Amino acid sequence: MGDLATLTQQALDEVAASTTLAALDEVRVRWLGKKGLLTEQLKSLGALPAADRPAAGAKINVAKERVQAAIEAAEARLADAAIAAELLAGRIDVTLPGRGEPRGSIHPVTRTRLRIETIFRNSGFEVATGPEIEDDFHNFEALNIPSDHPARAMHDTFYFADGRLLRTHTSPVQIRELRKGRLPLAMIMPGRVYRCDHDMTHSPMFHQVEGLVVDENVSFANLKATLQGFLRAFFEKDLRTRLRPSYFPFTEPSAEVDMSCVFCDGAGCRVCKHTGWIEVGGCGMVHPNVFTAAGVDAERWTGYAFGMGIERLAMLRDGVNDLRLFFESDLRFLRQFGAA
Ligand code: DAH
Repeated sequence: MGDLATLTQQALDEVAASTTLAALDEVRVRWLGKKGLLTEQLKSLGALPAADRPAAGAKINVAKERVQAAIEAAEARLADAAIAAELLAGRIDVTLPGRGEPRGSIHPVTRTRLRIETIFRNSGFEVATGPEIEDDFHNFEALNIPSDHPARAMHDTFYFADGRLLRTHTSPVQIRELRKGRLPLAMIMPGRVYRCDHDMTHSPMFHQVEGLVVDENVSFANLKATLQGFLRAFFEKDLRTRLRPSYFPFTEPSAEVDMSCVFCDGAGCRVCKHTGWIEVGGCGMVHPNVFTAAGVDAERWTGYAFGMGIERLAMLRDGVNDLRLFFESDLRFLRQFGAA
C-alpha cells in the first residue's frame, strides 16, 4: 500500500495535464476503468490479512474518489474553456463602425420623367397614364390609323396572339382620357412604349411623353408657346423652337418640333449635324376624326397634341451619346446621376 499515495499523485498529475475532454477520458479509463490501475489495487486486498482489509479498501476507495472528483472538476473546466473559445471565435465588436449600404440613385430616365412632370404640373397640366398592353382601337383605329394605313408599317408593332399589342406610342392614352368626357383638359401622359427595333439609337422599349390640351378656341400658337416654354424650362436655356410641316394621321395640321441645338446654340456642330437644329418630337392640332372616335364633339372642341421621346430629352440634357447606356444597368453609368 506504500505506493498508493504515489499512484494517486500520478493519476492526479495526468488529470491536470489533460487539455482535451478526449485525453481526460483516456486518463479516466486508465486509472478508474474496470482494469484501471487504481481499480486493480482493490484486487490486491486478498493478499492482506483479513483484519487489515477494511481499512486498506477504504483507503483505495478514498483515492479513487479523489481522482474521480479531480476528473469531474477538470471536465467542467475544459467544457467552460470550450464554450469560451467558441464565444471568442464568434465575437462581434459592436464598437466597430458599420459597413453601411450605399445609397441608390434615381434612374436617369425616371429622373427626366419626373422633371418633365414637374415643369408641366407647374403650368397647370395634369399627369395621366394608360396601359402598356393596348388594343388595336386605342393604339391605331381611334387615332385615325385604319388597318390599311401605311403609317402602321412604320410602327413595328409587337402583337399578342389574341390581337392585342404592346402600345407603340403614348397617343392611345389621349383616346382613353378623351373618352372620360371631362373637358376642357390639359394633360401629359408619360410612359413606356414598345417597338420591334433595336440598334444604336433604337431600343425595343423606350419612353415617351404625350401632351394633350383640349378647350374651345385652342390655337397652333398656343401649341408653339407651350412647347417652347417647356423646352426652355427643361434645358434651362434661352433656346429657339421651330415647327416643320409634317404628317401624323391623328393631327391636322402636323409638325415636327425642332429646337436650336443646345450644344452649339445653333451655330452648327456634330450633334445637330451642322444644321443648328435638333428634332425633339411631333405635334399638331387634334384631328376631328380623333375627337369623333373618342366621342368628343369636334364642332365645339379644339385641341393640340404632342409627343416626345424621354430618352432623347435625357440624352440631350445630360450629354449621353448612346441610348443603350440607359438599359444596360451598368452602375458606373447610373451612379453619375445623383438624386433627382
Ligand atoms: N405618336 C407619335 C409617335 O410615336 C408622336 C406624336 C406626334 C404624338 C404628333 C402626338 C402628335 O401627340 O401630335 O411617333
